[in-house]
Amino acid sequence: MRVTAIYPGTFDPMTVGHIDVARRASKMFDDVIVAVAASTSKSPFFSLEERVEMATGILSDLDNVTVQSFGGLLVEYAKEAGSKVIVRGLRAISDFEYEVQIAGVNRHMAPDIETVFIAAAQEYTFLSSSIVREIARLHGDVSEFVHPIVIESFTRRHDRALHEGNV
Ligand code: COA
Repeated sequence: MRVTAIYPGTFDPMTVGHIDVARRASKMFDDVIVAVAASTSKSPFFSLEERVEMATGILSDLDNVTVQSFGGLLVEYAKEAGSKVIVRGLRAISDFEYEVQIAGVNRHMAPDIETVFIAAAQEYTFLSSSIVREIARLHGDVSEFVHPIVIESFTRRHDRALHEGNV
């Protein structure tokens, strides 16, 4: 039986830390769906379409990884996708409490679905999407933290803002 895992997140934008987790998950499971959350309480900077498009391009070399969007409850989406595994990356002990809480809620709602934690790359434990957005907003260099596709998206956004006189 093929095992499909879901790697969910806001991915606003996807960072090298996320890529590392997706890559490692792709080696552990037959299929991996990177599930981009549609609306979160986070009011994402990039639109859902942009986040899905970026992640699709970034992960295009991984044959068993697909990128989809989802709304509503993650466990309902996992059931629809026929997946019994949710993958989450753990960067530091500070992630642990929140992640265990969410895993507990999800297990309560869907006892058949297991959450699997992958230890994120040690060298990027400080990294988060909001840190990348903040550096990019202040015109800092984020090339070490994100794929060139994300840099193109930031540049497009900046050019559009310039054009509209918002910078
Ligand atoms: N490398 C770098 N950064 C990482 C990382 C890694 N390996 N793992 C997590 N992060 C960062 C993210 O970039 C994000 O940073 P930000 O807050 O600065 O934007 C932060 O850690 C946490 O984000 P992430 O792990 O991506 O989670 P998320 O908040 O983006 O996604 C959902 C959470 C979408 C999975 C969750 O809210 C969800 O399942 N929503 C659906 C509704 C639901 O079912 N809720 C559960 C029941 S209450």
